[in-house]
Amino acid sequence: MEKIIEVKNLSKSFGEFQAVGGISFNVKKGEVFSLLGPNGAGKTTTIKMLTTLIEPSSGSVHIGGLSLTENKIAIRRQFGIVFQDSSLDDDLTAEENMFFHAVLYGISRKTRQEKISALLKFFGLWERRSDLVKHFSGGMKKRLEIARALSHDPPLLFLDEPTSGLDPQNRSRLWEYLKELNKKMNMTIFLTTHSMEEVEKVSERIVIIDHGKVSAEGTPEEIKTRTETKTLEEAFLTLTGRDIREDVPTESDHLRKGRILWSGGRKR
Ligand SMILES: Nc1ncnc2c1ncn2[C@@H]1O[C@H](COP(=O)(O)OP(=O)(O)OP(=O)(O)O)[C@@H](O)[C@H]1O
Ligand SMILES: [Mg+2]
Repeated sequence: MEKIIEVKNLSKSFGEFQAVGGISFNVKKGEVFSLLGPNGAGKTTTIKMLTTLIEPSSGSVHIGGLSLTENKIAIRRQFGIVFQDSSLDDDLTAEENMFFHAVLYGISRKTRQEKISALLKFFGLWERRSDLVKHFSGGMKKRLEIARALSHDPPLLFLDEPTSGLDPQNRSRLWEYLKELNKKMNMTIFLTTHSMEEVEKVSERIVIIDHGKVSAEGTPEEIKTRTETKTLEEAFLTLTGRDIREDVPTESDHLRKGRILWSGGRKR
C-alpha cells in the first residue's frame, strides 16, 4: 500500500535533552495510525515536527512524497491538525469559526459556504451553527475543531489526544465520526491517545514510543502476539514497565532531568 508519511531517524533535542531520539516509521494511505506512549514519551514533539511547527534536529520526513524540509508550504495543505488544547474562538459562532479558518487557508469564496455547510452537517453541528462556541459541550467543540481542520480538503488528519477530557458518550460518538471519515472519505488519520481500549478498536497500526525511541510497531494483534499478552494494555506494560494511565508529574524540568522518576519501574 502507498505510504503517505515516511519518517526516518527523526530526532529532536531541546538543549541537552533529547525528546525524540531517532525514530523511524511509515503511515499507509487510508489507515488509522496511532502513536502511543506514556507522558513525556515524545508524542506531541513528534506531531509538531510532522506538522512543520518545530524543526527536527535531524532525520527526514516525507509527506505525500514531499520532503518536509524543502516543501513546507505544499505540505501544510496536505493535512489538518487538531491539538489537545482548543484553539476555537469561544466568542464566535460555530459557523464564524469555520469561516475565519477557511479564509486563512485561502478557500475560494465560491466553494467556502458549501464546504462549511457540508462539514457542519457531517459532524452533526448544522443545527447549532449560529450558537456561540462558549455554549458548546466538550464533544461538540472537538467535532467543530476537526470540521474546521478539514476545510481545505486535506487527505491526512493529525489528532493529538482527541478524546482526552471527553466523557465516555462523547468519546464513543467522536470515534464513530472518525471511523466514518476514514471509511467514507478515505481520510488517513494519525492520532495519539492514552486510551488502549480505543486504540484496539480503531487503529489498524500502532507505534509505541518510550523515552523518544520506538519500542514496538505493528497491528494491535502483532504487538500482543510478540509480547505474549492478551490486551494491548498488558503489552504496553510489558514494553514500558508502567501503566499508560499512571499519572507522572508532567512538569518538564522533572521530566527532562529526572528520567529517575520512571527508572524504578522499568523492565527491559
Ligand atoms: N519546548 C520544550 N523545551 C524543553 N523540553 C521540552 C519541550 N517540549 C517538550 N519537552 C520535553 O520533551 C519530552 C517529550 O514531550 P512531549 O510533549 O513530546 O511528550 P508526550 O509524549 O506528548 O507526553 P504527554 O503524554 O504528556 O502529552 C518531555 O520530557 C518534555 O518535557
Ligand atoms: Mg502530548
